[in-house]
Amino acid sequence: MSAAADRSGPRGLFVAGTDTGVGKTFVATRLIHALVAAGFRVAAMKPVAAGATRTPDGWRNDDALALAAAANVAADYATVNPYCLAAAVSPHIAAAEAGVHIETGPIVAGLRTLTVQADFVVVEGAGGWLAPISERQSMADVAQALRLPVLLVVGLKLGCLSHAALTAAAIRAGGGRLAGWVGNAIDPHFERVTENLASLERLLAMPPAAVMPYADRAERVAAISPAAARSLAQSALAGTAVEVLSV
Ligand SMILES: Nc1ncnc2c1ncn2[C@@H]1O[C@H](COP(=O)(O)OP(=O)(O)O)[C@@H](O)[C@H]1O
Ligand SMILES: [Mg+2]
Repeated sequence: MSAAADRSGPRGLFVAGTDTGVGKTFVATRLIHALVAAGFRVAAMKPVAAGATRTPDGWRNDDALALAAAANVAADYATVNPYCLAAAVSPHIAAAEAGVHIETGPIVAGLRTLTVQADFVVVEGAGGWLAPISERQSMADVAQALRLPVLLVVGLKLGCLSHAALTAAAIRAGGGRLAGWVGNAIDPHFERVTENLASLERLLAMPPAAVMPYADRAERVAAISPAAARSLAQSALAGTAVEVLSV
């Protein structure tokens, strides 16, 4: 592949989580803000969303809207969120109910469209790494088809060490690359935070790209610094072209 072809390949991060509800959207929107502040043209994508509201413009998902609102590269809703499913259940069940078969082709095409206009595309997965999207495929297949390195959001709560290690092992087993991880304090009562962060650093074999504090309703101040975002983006861009196996 020529250098020119490499440069036109996918540029961005796939934001995965140790589970659903661990802060993928929380972290992804803040990452987008930080990348914008660092000078990047950033687009966002939520390829598969389950849980949507009917609006005059069609079905809309909150995560996709939040990600798109944070980005500074505008895009059609259908490009940001090619699969928007009504029911807030596992995507493969929501898709079956809607008579939709989720395929990676339209998702890859959406990323390609966004990559033309943006320096960097932040893509949020759905659920955990192996969340099914059909009888045969999971979000891991989506991540693999997109050929993006992975940012793993670890929801800091009891059980997160095993979930983080399992996710990292599954990413590697599929030929993907873990570009970084973020410790996200979703549980204000989680004990031994320092010890757990040290354990995560050992299990994931790298220090966290960021640690997000618990942000209560009164003061939603948690942010990722532009410097941290820039170094994460540089690590993602440096490794993107080589790490991936196709399915
Ligand atoms: N650091 C944090 N502090 C406080 N609340 C958080 C934090 N991270 C996430 N949350 C909240 O937890 C819930 C789940 O987060 P969300 O980003 O939607 O998870 P996911 O995208 O992984 O499903 C949301 O209500 C979100 O606002
Ligand atoms: Mg989300």
